[in-house]
Amino acid sequence: MMDPSEAKKETLSVIERYEPKDSSLIPILQACQKRFGYLPREVMEEISLYLNMPLSKIYGVTTFYAQFRLEPLGEHLVKVCHGTACHVRGADKINEILENELGIKSGDTTPCGTFSLERVACLGCCSLAPVIMVDETVHGNLDRDKLKKVISGYRGDGQ
Ligand code: FES
Repeated sequence: MMDPSEAKKETLSVIERYEPKDSSLIPILQACQKRFGYLPREVMEEISLYLNMPLSKIYGVTTFYAQFRLEPLGEHLVKVCHGTACHVRGADKINEILENELGIKSGDTTPCGTFSLERVACLGCCSLAPVIMVDETVHGNLDRDKLKKVISGYRGDGQ
């Protein structure tokens, strides 16, 4: 949770670059997410005041669009490619193994805050399909065993 006065100051420094009108909402949300990594409640309250828009409407928009996050990301962001090549080579299975391994669904973060799981479009290295990206590192030609090893490495348990 952010310190409220700090949140106000930081949020204003981001949103004051936009005109206080309804059509600024999406660009403001995008800019705030870029700044904070997600959209904390305190930030949305500031946006609500700035745009003179009900908080419930802002929540409605953030939950409608998959690009917005209401929770902080985990320490490691695991992106599962669902582009065509990866899809053909078993991206759904890779996704299912990861969901079971981490105990979360795509779009969620583990309760310990170590991993967030996301579905993405082509990561640009189709010859390695199926592919995932953990933080900035691509892992390709995955099967169940290789995938489990990759995740173990980020857990630090080396298993
Ligand atoms: S389709 Fe997965 S990297 Fe291109």
